[in-house]
Amino acid sequence: MKKKWLSFTGLAVALTMVAGLVAGCGGSSTTSSDAKEIKVGGNLELTGGVATFGNSVANGVKLAFKEVNAAGGVLGKQLVFIAADNKSEPSESTNAITKLITKDKVVAVIGAVASTNTLAAVQVAQDNKIPLITPTSTNPRVTVENGKVREWVFRSCFIDPFQGSVMANFASKSLNAKTAAIYTDNSSDYSKGLTEVFEQTFTKNGGKIVAKEAFLQKDQDFKAALTKIKAANPDVIFIPAYYEEVGKIVKQARELGITVPLLGADGWDSPKLVEIAGAAALNNVYFSNHYSPEDKDPRVVKFVEAYKKEYGQVPDALAALGYDAAMLLVDAIKRAGSAEPAKIKDALAQTKNLQLVSGVISLDANHNPVKSAAIIELKDGKQIFKEKINP
Ligand code: PHE
Repeated sequence: MKKKWLSFTGLAVALTMVAGLVAGCGGSSTTSSDAKEIKVGGNLELTGGVATFGNSVANGVKLAFKEVNAAGGVLGKQLVFIAADNKSEPSESTNAITKLITKDKVVAVIGAVASTNTLAAVQVAQDNKIPLITPTSTNPRVTVENGKVREWVFRSCFIDPFQGSVMANFASKSLNAKTAAIYTDNSSDYSKGLTEVFEQTFTKNGGKIVAKEAFLQKDQDFKAALTKIKAANPDVIFIPAYYEEVGKIVKQARELGITVPLLGADGWDSPKLVEIAGAAALNNVYFSNHYSPEDKDPRVVKFVEAYKKEYGQVPDALAALGYDAAMLLVDAIKRAGSAEPAKIKDALAQTKNLQLVSGVISLDANHNPVKSAAIIELKDGKQIFKEKINP
């Protein structure tokens, strides 16, 4: 008798495990509207060239979902986050979002992080009619192509025309720069977009661009281009790129005796930057970002505390934006009263005055929020919150 009971338990355990595995692989075929849980995908850079970005966003999303689930979920359902690694590559980003939508049957996708990777995913979202929210991609073309807004694509961050002009104005006005050089990552839509805006704004301010050089992701040796830049003797150098290459560029620039201020944008925000460049090389550098963990705004303080408790580290801007993108989605599902993708999409487009960690989000007709930027200075490897720039 006892033996029989035991084997029955064994069978039940085995069955539960199989069910768990299937759910874990996203093999469940339940349709989105009658499921007991709401499945949300993450198309994220979890490995590869910008891996710290994807992991921070994933942490932010998970924290948000944990808080929401603990408070009863959304529409009485628990949120489940299924993250797929796009390996920091555009082609993998297309694969990751396709898998999330067709296999895992998610109702919405958060990501990608880098603009080029998100641009490789937007058409899949459009074709499958699944809302895509990028927490972080700042290139304008992500939500608008040829003057036409992409119906299923949204973002929770500001865009590069704002970020680029913030840094150009900072160079002209706060640093009093008259000349600048720009060193562009030609493999990144983000970098190329920022280059254009910086050049326009800096020139409009009466400044002159005295050198323009370019590199590609995964390059290792930047000294030839930096030597040309040094010869042009600019007051500042703008390097709109990601931490992996920026770290090496900054290190090599200082080795060549370039001492002028080095300027960047959100792509500099990674704990890896200091590891790669070394703290000393990173003095006299400034970059724009989406938030500062030092901001005394009560929402920021509360978020930083919760994040530290969960992960034992200070959240970077990507973590804050991941958290905000998740909350933007939750707000839309609540207002829609439904987890059907089309209803979520309509509700997202109507987002108004949503108070989040990185600012207040109202989405405009192009599905972009208008938000403030923070200028960060690095001092001996530490981020200093320099100023907040309102749009
Ligand atoms: N804005 C970057 C892009 O569009 C991504 C990014 C955002 C990186 C925030 C770091 C911090 O590619």
